[in-house]
Amino acid sequence: MNILLLGNGGRESALAWKIKQSNKVNDLYVAPGNAGTHLIANNINLSATDFPSIKEFVLNNSIDMVVVGPEEPLVKGIYDFFINDEEIKNIPVIGPSKLGAELEGSKDFAKQFMVRHNIPTAKYKSFTLSQLDDAYHFLEELEAPYVLKADGLAAGKGVLIINDIEEAKRELKEMLSGMFGDASKTVVIEEFLSGIECSVFVLTDGESYKILPVAKDYKRIGEGDTGLNTGGMGAVSPVSFADKSFMEKVEQRIVIPTIEGLKKDNITYKGFIFLGLIEVKGEPMVIEYNVRMGDPETEVVMLRIKSDFVSLLEGVATKNLKDKVLEIDDRYAVTVMLVSGGYPGSYEKDKEMTGLDQVHDSILFHAGTKLSENKVLTNGGRVIAISSYGKTKDDALSLSFKNADKILFDKKYYRKDIGFDLK
Ligand code: AMP
Ligand code: GLY
Repeated sequence: MNILLLGNGGRESALAWKIKQSNKVNDLYVAPGNAGTHLIANNINLSATDFPSIKEFVLNNSIDMVVVGPEEPLVKGIYDFFINDEEIKNIPVIGPSKLGAELEGSKDFAKQFMVRHNIPTAKYKSFTLSQLDDAYHFLEELEAPYVLKADGLAAGKGVLIINDIEEAKRELKEMLSGMFGDASKTVVIEEFLSGIECSVFVLTDGESYKILPVAKDYKRIGEGDTGLNTGGMGAVSPVSFADKSFMEKVEQRIVIPTIEGLKKDNITYKGFIFLGLIEVKGEPMVIEYNVRMGDPETEVVMLRIKSDFVSLLEGVATKNLKDKVLEIDDRYAVTVMLVSGGYPGSYEKDKEMTGLDQVHDSILFHAGTKLSENKVLTNGGRVIAISSYGKTKDDALSLSFKNADKILFDKKYYRKDIGFDLK
């Protein structure tokens, strides 16, 4: 079969790597892709949100399945675009319907869903600017720190955690007045939860589900989890605290009620559900839903899936996922992200990368790279993920760190303490 994968990050590089391993695949196209996907697939110069051009490409190239990497096309309704078009309605899109994508597209929608289906999450209320006084009162009822979340998509920047109540009130007013444009016209105010986080990924055809390997990502720029939030500086899988008994609770209290809730609410969902979880005194609670795979978690999760991934995706498309087998690799997988100096603030691009051919015993997943006259140049904040296997977490990490030193570009930075907090 021929597959079109949408997106251009490290996540898509890892998805492309795994999809290519399937002997069911003839041609794999990535739109728009990056310098890494160029090595294993055909990059197509199309935006992942240009639906009419995607349709034309799909028809002209006999595409049998579309796999959606990032959230934006999903929130903009690519699933519905296909289903509602006679010419392409039989070509499966791996991802939720537009309504299902609201689990990520609207934090208020996600919170209402969790409350309706008894899924454990932080206490909350949502407000608009006309309810400012009520919002201030709600803040006063909570204890510091205060968690303010823009309702809509805000490129990962829409969550503020503030210690001082007066500052929280000021920021709240700014948010409601358009700090994040329309995304913060509604703000979710939430109780602060204290604990350690992990990411659980569920693949579902809307009826049954498979729980993919659990991962932990490292979001802060600085070692010891300090400094600004980034898209993710590295990841490990498995996660020591997410043991059998924890994962049993996740399945019973979160995964099953989520799948059942989608069914009860008549929400069409054939794709990935990303549960951003926090362990509070041994109990899992949901911090957020995303409707896609995580980045950089995908760069470790794909290493640990032994089964034919395309066969699993076919199970999603044809609603027979329950008949498919998901076999997991027992080894550890880790990834270390090399980033441009200055990221997540301003940084320079177009730095030549060398040493890529010196890397052994790790798998490189390009994130922000591009090709120019046969040179690989940096093209983003997160540049390349270095993923490795190991019998232990430390074995895997030492391979990734060894290779991190071999890849050179001006102002390269990476965290040397990925996995530091886990057994
Ligand atoms: P989100 O975009 O909802 O994932 O939030 C970004 C990050 O903010 C999360 O990964 C958490 O580290 C933190 N966060 C969000 N909500 C809460 C909460 N209720 N309590 C504590 N930390 C939170
Ligand atoms: N690594 C977190 C995310 O993909 O949102």
